[in-house]
Amino acid sequence: MTKLEKAKQYEKEHQLSEDQLPAFHYAAPIGWINDPNGFSFFDGKVHLFAQYHPYNNQWGPMHWLHQTTENFIDWTLEGCALAPDQDYDHAGVFSGSAIEKDGKHFLMYTGVRKDENGEFQQQCLAIGDGKNYEKLKNNPVIPTSLIPQGFSEIHFRDPKVWKEGDRYFVVCGSLDEKGQGQAILFSSDDLMNWKFENVMAHSKGTFGSMWECPDFFELDGTPILMFSPQDMRAKGLEFHNGHNSVWLTGPFENHQFKDFTAHSLDYGLDFYAPQSVLLPDGRRVMIAWMASWDNPIFKKDFDFAGQMTFPREIWMQEGKLMQKPVRELEENRINPVHLSDIKIDGTFKNEKIAGRCSELIIRFKETQNLSALILGLAKSEKEEFESTLTWYTHQNLLEFDRTWSGMTSDSNAIRRAKAPEGGIQEIRVLIDRFSIEIFINDGEMVMSNAITTPIFADEIEIETIGSCKADIDFYTIQTK
Ligand code: FRU
Repeated sequence: MTKLEKAKQYEKEHQLSEDQLPAFHYAAPIGWINDPNGFSFFDGKVHLFAQYHPYNNQWGPMHWLHQTTENFIDWTLEGCALAPDQDYDHAGVFSGSAIEKDGKHFLMYTGVRKDENGEFQQQCLAIGDGKNYEKLKNNPVIPTSLIPQGFSEIHFRDPKVWKEGDRYFVVCGSLDEKGQGQAILFSSDDLMNWKFENVMAHSKGTFGSMWECPDFFELDGTPILMFSPQDMRAKGLEFHNGHNSVWLTGPFENHQFKDFTAHSLDYGLDFYAPQSVLLPDGRRVMIAWMASWDNPIFKKDFDFAGQMTFPREIWMQEGKLMQKPVRELEENRINPVHLSDIKIDGTFKNEKIAGRCSELIIRFKETQNLSALILGLAKSEKEEFESTLTWYTHQNLLEFDRTWSGMTSDSNAIRRAKAPEGGIQEIRVLIDRFSIEIFINDGEMVMSNAITTPIFADEIEIETIGSCKADIDFYTIQTK
């Protein structure tokens, strides 16, 4: 049996039941996932692959998991797509991306190889029909011999491919000769023969170490590079995840950022390695691994570990990168509850507003008498489970706290972040069995968090110090 057949058989035999997995977030049928890979539109469907180790809930020899969707809510398991079964990738089929060419689906990934001379990361191709994929005979297509002398051969990974006119481009994460992070660019006419172009952007020692999972695109006319710098130092209330995810823009010429400013993509505890896709209808959608290398909360009694964020439409508005749940979510809302002009002065609870596969929207009408608002989620009074989002209005500070979410350790249970400068007009929350994602002001700011709270803890409660007036909408999310 090949390694791929073995993985496919294992996942079939060990597949978890639906109620053990997230309800409307991408996760593995069994085992571990990290980064989203190959996010693409092919043959009428959205395809999303992931770094995958089916055999237990820990990172291990990397495979690619494959699932497809037509609504971003229900994912169809296509199964393991790639296994580490070749000389050039036996130590791991690492992250990468996908593109369509001549009616075929091309997957570009990092093949990791180890031998007596050390470890090498090189970029490889697999070609398929949306179901089955075959690795190219003459892999790697971007061997380490194509990178300038001195650049690391061990830290050279995560190719993101796109097309401009007739030419293909690939950006990879890399370390330069001083061990500083950078994003490097290659180009090709046919996806097979590549040449080194330039260093698209360089950390200059200020943005962490290795830059993982770069993604380049134009968003409403602005050139954007997203990437995940490892070991980044926190600044004020930003960049507290150790390994962080940021976006940058700045003066851009000949595919190079001459200078840049960078910002956090997410202010929660769990967000890494985002990747985007351009859909045929013009939307750019981003998804990320909703976990953190430095702070994994799925512990030994889980048969799966790792899940993706809910996919988000992204766009530029007044120099900010905005993100909100893809609009398909709205088509899957059921059992709506609408309360208008509610005065909250103390504790607010409503028996219809509860659930662990749901969406809550609070639109503030009056907040001048509000000192703090504490939103209790995935809560059970009796058992004392709860995660909270607190908005301290005077300091304009947000605090997410999952200390009582069912974790076995308090480390990194709290995340504080500055709320948007203009204050908060709307809080929108997606609550799933294993996550709480918080969207502020129609996409100005997001906090993504994983939780491991028992499913029966489904209450929602609002508490205020002072009072406010708001409209509240609540929905259950319908899944297949
Ligand atoms: C990011 C990352 C990538 C690598 C993959 C390995 O989370 O470290 O750089 O390709 O995970 O699983």
